[in-house]
Amino acid sequence: MGRDSAADDAGRRHSLGTLVSVVELVPSILSADFARLADEVAAAERGGGSVIHVDVMDGHFVPNITVGPPIVQSLRKHTRLPLDCHLMIENPDEFIPAFAEAGANWVSVHYEACRHLHRTLELIASHDMEPAVVINPATAEDLLIPVLGMVHHVLVMSVNPGFGGQKFIPYALKKIRRLKELRQEMGLKFRIEVDGGVAHDTVARVVEAGAELLVAGHAVFGEGHAERDARSLLEAAQRASMQAV
Ligand code: DX5
Ligand code: ZN
Repeated sequence: MGRDSAADDAGRRHSLGTLVSVVELVPSILSADFARLADEVAAAERGGGSVIHVDVMDGHFVPNITVGPPIVQSLRKHTRLPLDCHLMIENPDEFIPAFAEAGANWVSVHYEACRHLHRTLELIASHDMEPAVVINPATAEDLLIPVLGMVHHVLVMSVNPGFGGQKFIPYALKKIRRLKELRQEMGLKFRIEVDGGVAHDTVARVVEAGAELLVAGHAVFGEGHAERDARSLLEAAQRASMQAV
């Protein structure tokens, strides 16, 4: 899959010539039925999901364990959508080649987990994947200024990472707004992703703040109706996006 497959769609011209962002739904498989993963992903795609989010947890950086490169490799055979691998792990450098080999497209690493963040982002890009950086709720977005020019997207956590189905932390909205301002001031193109507690009651606020890549786990897979629930969440996001223009 081309490195810029989704980035090329990062913006569209609206009739007045203003560049406006396109919102995309990024279903997180964390809340899917793992025994039926290919079917779950296919359903989320039919509902309008356009990127698949894979939460990788190591039991050290976060208090939970999930999946790794073998699941990415299996998923790769069942979907052509970009696989967005969110690494909530210590020492991500050690595993980046394995994710590339498995077929990952986007790889995001936590600011808090990287001693040499610049090097890690370069390593991801050197494996022909899109590099991205993630910040926890307690990390200030301005700390990312030195690397904003080298990332495909910034992921703003709106919950403390580790579990699906948590309550949205509203302070994330302020960070999303600030990143949007920084992007304009610096003349950059990185996209803004939000992850955690994105659901019907919060989606309009994250879109209005400027988030474009909307990760949603429980809201898509939690009720066992991924197609239906992806569609209704994406429609709510698109309505908010139209109102924000
Ligand atoms: C949390 C993960 C999220 C999680 C979001 O650590 O990074 O991607 O799946 O789940 P919801 O949408 O249920 O908050
Ligand atoms: Zn995630």
